[in-house]
Amino acid sequence: MKYMKLNNGIEIPIVGCGTNTYGKEENQYSGALRGDTQEVDWAIENGYRHFDSAQLYLNEEVVGNGIKKSSLPREEFFITTKLNTFEGFGGAEWAHAEIEKSLEKLQTDYIDLFLIHKPWDNEAEMVEAWTILEDYYNRGVFKSIGVSNFEKEHLDLLLENSSITPAVNQIKSQVGHWNDTLIDYNKSKEIATVAWSPLKGIDENAQQILEEIGNQYGKTFAQVVLRYQIERDVIVIPKSHNKERQAECLAIFDFELTADDRDRIAAL
Ligand SMILES: NC(=O)c1ccc[n+]([C@@H]2O[C@H](COP(=O)([O-])OP(=O)(O)OC[C@H]3O[C@@H](n4cnc5c(N)ncnc54)[C@H](OP(=O)(O)O)[C@@H]3O)[C@@H](O)[C@H]2O)c1
Repeated sequence: MKYMKLNNGIEIPIVGCGTNTYGKEENQYSGALRGDTQEVDWAIENGYRHFDSAQLYLNEEVVGNGIKKSSLPREEFFITTKLNTFEGFGGAEWAHAEIEKSLEKLQTDYIDLFLIHKPWDNEAEMVEAWTILEDYYNRGVFKSIGVSNFEKEHLDLLLENSSITPAVNQIKSQVGHWNDTLIDYNKSKEIATVAWSPLKGIDENAQQILEEIGNQYGKTFAQVVLRYQIERDVIVIPKSHNKERQAECLAIFDFELTADDRDRIAAL
């Protein structure tokens, strides 16, 4: 595993495991919880230690239960979760209650990376929410804090009105929507980028080109895409409901893309 150092010195595994459908009936996002932790168990067996969770997914306990079941020390894991701001901000009391629920469901007394899931249309509230995250950070409950789906103007709002720079901006970055301008902006502010849904957006034509590239290295199209991202310091959180494909997504540290191949991928 390769680690990246965040702007506060904390190290994050550059490949994490997406979890938004784990533990759910028929692997469906809106499915009810099955009550087991199969995919998390496989991921841990495969060597994943970084898990990307969120209050919105309604399955933080699946991640928490799986980690607990592994009997590995908590410090071996890097757990991300996110404040559910899809309905906006419910005030300080609401935020504190939601955060306490996350800690309970994840069965931990600290969270490695806590994010605001998405911006909303109220600047004062966004600054207030960030101040709450800063407070948990200062008390050591959150080891790092960041944001998700923030555009430049949202980042600027926090940079201009608070004291802690987000460690991470988790955004959509995938074939057909690399999001290069925002990634460059993140980088210029020492904000690491995490790419969500890194394996989506691949049409037949793109898949064929990626397979052609992968064949030179004995790698699959998915491994080529993930490798492309980590070579430009973008953290990836792929998700699979299949143990072998989970393992495949981790086996990307034994090859290097040529500059020509990187250019071809960038053009997809
Ligand atoms: N912050 C946000 O707003 C946000 C938004 C969306 C997602 N996320 C996070 O990002 C994570 C990943 O995104 P995602 O779950 O949407 O999708 P993803 O990881 O980009 O793609 C998942 C799809 O890729 C397939 N796949 C996985 N590994 C593969 C491999 N080695 N070869 C071929 N196919 C493979 C999976 O199928 P199989 O299961 O059949 O292998 C599944 O259909 C989420 O789980 C969530 O944690 C965050």
